Amino acid sequence: MVHILKSYNKLSSTVADIIESQIKEHPLSKLALPTGSTPLGMYKELVKRELDWKSVITFNLDAYLMNIDHPQSYQSYMRKNLFDKTNIYPNHYHFPFRPTSAFEDKIARSMGIDLCILGIGTNGHIAFNEPGSSFDSRTRVVDLSEQTIQDNSRFFDSVDDVPKQTITMGLGTIMESKKIILIANGNHKLNILNVAMNGEVTEDIPASILQNHDNVEVFYCD
Ligand code: PGA
Repeated sequence: MVHILKSYNKLSSTVADIIESQIKEHPLSKLALPTGSTPLGMYKELVKRELDWKSVITFNLDAYLMNIDHPQSYQSYMRKNLFDKTNIYPNHYHFPFRPTSAFEDKIARSMGIDLCILGIGTNGHIAFNEPGSSFDSRTRVVDLSEQTIQDNSRFFDSVDDVPKQTITMGLGTIMESKKIILIANGNHKLNILNVAMNGEVTEDIPASILQNHDNVEVFYCD
């Protein structure tokens, strides 16, 4: 189901509503969370709502292989935009780590992800599962594509500073989430969103796998 929203603020508050309901109805929820520019408004909304995060467990979708204290690390991003502004316990939030099988075990031991929030890259990636990723893939270390390095260079002083590798949840891992929300903002995402949601289900367009999940909602604004 694709929802077209009137503004970025509306997109952010609508997805925050879904997360708020999830946490209120199920305080022990396990969430998978994204980084990037699209979720910033959603995190701002969530912080404003002063929800009770003390029983919530989170798993970030991906993390650059870099110093976690670097301002552009995803650990810094999450602390700055959400974790340090809520009452979540630091030992309740997780970023993919090595050995990646131990990260997978952690998700499995927590009985799986209830709600997974995803962005989409202009090449159709979800988390950092770049085109060509196996639909069965699990959490692993991956090389970023040239396209993604270019896209993400806006966050760094120069393109050379963008990390070349990340650890990402796999497509198989993501697809085991009970519910998935995909958010996309901007005209530059419209074409890939259309291809992913209405085109062939193919590993060349990683997000197309979502067509095979029975509880996915997509929220888009231009
Ligand atoms: P963006 O990234 O929100 O910064 O556009 C999305 C993604 O690459 O998954």
